[in-house]
Amino acid sequence: MAAQLVAALVLLLPLAGASDYDGFIRQVTDGGSRAWPGLLTEAQFAAFVRRHGRRYSGPEEYARRLRVFAANLARAAAHQALDPSARHGVTPFSDLTREEFEARFTGVRAGGDVQRLVRGSMPAAAPAPEEEVARLPASFDWREKGAVTGVKTQGACGSCWAFSTTGAVEGANFLATGKLLNLSEQQLVDCDHTCSAVARNECNNGCAGGLMTNAYAYLMESGGLMEQREYPYTGAPGPCRFDPARAAVRVANFTAVPAGDERQTRAALVRRGPLAVGLNAAFMQTYVGGVSCPLVCPRAWVNHGVLLVGYGARGFAALRLGYRPYWIIKNSWGEQWGERGYYRLCRGSNVCGVDSMVSAVAVAPPP
Ligand SMILES: *[C@@H]1O[C@H](CO)[C@@H](O)[C@H](O)[C@H]1NC(C)=O
Ligand SMILES: *[C@@H]1O[C@H](CO)[C@@H](O)[C@H](O)[C@H]1NC(C)=O
Repeated sequence: MAAQLVAALVLLLPLAGASDYDGFIRQVTDGGSRAWPGLLTEAQFAAFVRRHGRRYSGPEEYARRLRVFAANLARAAAHQALDPSARHGVTPFSDLTREEFEARFTGVRAGGDVQRLVRGSMPAAAPAPEEEVARLPASFDWREKGAVTGVKTQGACGSCWAFSTTGAVEGANFLATGKLLNLSEQQLVDCDHTCSAVARNECNNGCAGGLMTNAYAYLMESGGLMEQREYPYTGAPGPCRFDPARAAVRVANFTAVPAGDERQTRAALVRRGPLAVGLNAAFMQTYVGGVSCPLVCPRAWVNHGVLLVGYGARGFAALRLGYRPYWIIKNSWGEQWGERGYYRLCRGSNVCGVDSMVSAVAVAPPP
């Protein structure tokens, strides 16, 4: 009994002062913690509840969320085994089931034929010439050039597609004008109900999902996009309050980047600015940091819209994998998720479908 108590206290000590997630992960994967899984999990859950200011409706809900949390720790450990170069563990979403998480925090519905959807709904970009592709820098980051706004938070709303779209338009506007504006996702959530030209049932639908290419088509038709400060984010659909006279940016055109071609994606990124991409978010609920390079991540199942902002040549990947080239991806789940809101995903083999649904947008030059 006494020995058990001492051991429990020793296990709890690192939690008391834990200021980042690293301590947690070590314990998820640490064989030594298996002796008291229940107690350790409860302590980790209590720390999670404090850290994220969770309020549950009562003891039953608390107990239910604790069970979900425990299941997610097991899932994080499974992800860790399948994705050894990243770190998986406790995240701000550890008390949500996978179904709850996907319904609330993703929002691209393209489980069917991604290629057809992207190719058919917009003109394809002319591939970059060989010599241009050969001369691409070894690493590149639009954040360093001031083309990327701070990480935003979509909240419990399947509006990732709107954040992916505004990120691309913000970047294109920066390239055209040298000014970085914070643009409105809410305008898209409220006003854009555009359906895909090739799949009439794939329509943009506020917090229930959408596609970035539909959103570009809407922006070309509607007359532009307002600034965030004029049309702030609420995270719930409401009546459309778009006023064309107050549009800050007008979209001129958009194109598909040839699918599945990592070099073309890089060329388009460097040439045209941050790119809206879709990917399979299966490993993101438990992602804490590092270069994610899952051994299995179906590329046909694209369910999340994000923004490609750069790439690196050699990201250190823990364990046996050594160094891997990677993409730098801006997410819309706040700064507490991932690497201050960013995801690094290994590059070169269309992992998680990241090269499958890539689009570039251009804004009209200012009058
Ligand atoms: C953009 O606007 C949002 C919502 O008002 C705000 O939280 C965020 O800090 C702004 N980001 C930038 C980079 O200005
Ligand atoms: C798209 O618009 C930009 C800005 O107006 C223009 O420079 C470019 O030529 C256009 N591209 C296509 C394919 O129309």
